[in-house]
Amino acid sequence: MRTSIRLPAVCAALLLALPLAAVAEDEGNLPHADNDIRNTASLQRGARNFMNYCSGCHSAQFVRFNRIGTDLGISEDELKANLMFTAEHSFETIKSALPPADGRKWFGNAPPDLSLIARSRGTDYLFAFLTGFYADPARPTGVNNAVLPGTAMPHVLADLQGVQTAVFTATAAGENSAIPAIERFTLASPGTLTPEKYEEFVRDTVNFLDYMGEPVQVKRRDLGVWVILFLLVFTGFAFLLKREYFRDIH
Ligand code: HEC
Repeated sequence: MRTSIRLPAVCAALLLALPLAAVAEDEGNLPHADNDIRNTASLQRGARNFMNYCSGCHSAQFVRFNRIGTDLGISEDELKANLMFTAEHSFETIKSALPPADGRKWFGNAPPDLSLIARSRGTDYLFAFLTGFYADPARPTGVNNAVLPGTAMPHVLADLQGVQTAVFTATAAGENSAIPAIERFTLASPGTLTPEKYEEFVRDTVNFLDYMGEPVQVKRRDLGVWVILFLLVFTGFAFLLKREYFRDIH
């Protein structure tokens, strides 16, 4: 008799666990990337940005061009003309133009594969990383980064963003002189994009990185709603069935 109450309890526990899972994804004090994975135009722009500005150094070895084509509504010809700089056939994955050994030799650190980077770092972090380069003459690349201090990645988007300098908080040196806190950035020399347009550029790029981390996530979320609805309806039926079975015993 005891087992009969378990199913509704399990369903209720599953429903309660959903908000907790969302809290676990919270990324601290970083500003929100606010990318919209359902915005196909933004994903198309992100794919273009990625292939033009990132694939020279970074691969995405789990992502095939034809999958991008199907998901983002890009035809085979458009793929070939606009995105496939590192591949001949659309069934190939995104390879970097730079062999990893050379990356290590030139930068000190090999540029990582970016297929799953949105899942390991989170979109807010990626947004902060790509907007967080600032001039630092002490670094070999001439720049440092707010969220990845001492990064080996050069500011490859400096033409677009321009070069910003960091204003550090006055108290930081006393608290922890190794990692001074950055209060804000000032744009020392502007790039070809306005700050708002640059943020849009980065948001589209992060959106595409998010998509690459789990291409099926839009479908998964849509399906998830139906699964939960099914479980709720099923719980009702299971309860009615239980009542029917136990009618004579009570
Ligand atoms: C000139 C080569 C080069 C290009 C082009 C480049 N990167 Fe990188 N990137 C690197 C290197 C080198 C690293 C390793 C940095 C480190 O470990 O400090 C890196 C690291 C990263 C990381 C990992 C950061 C972390 O927390 O570990 C991300 C994310 C990233 N790049 C995103 C991008 C994006 C997005 C673009 C395109 C807009 C891009 N990169 C273009 C060289 C490059």
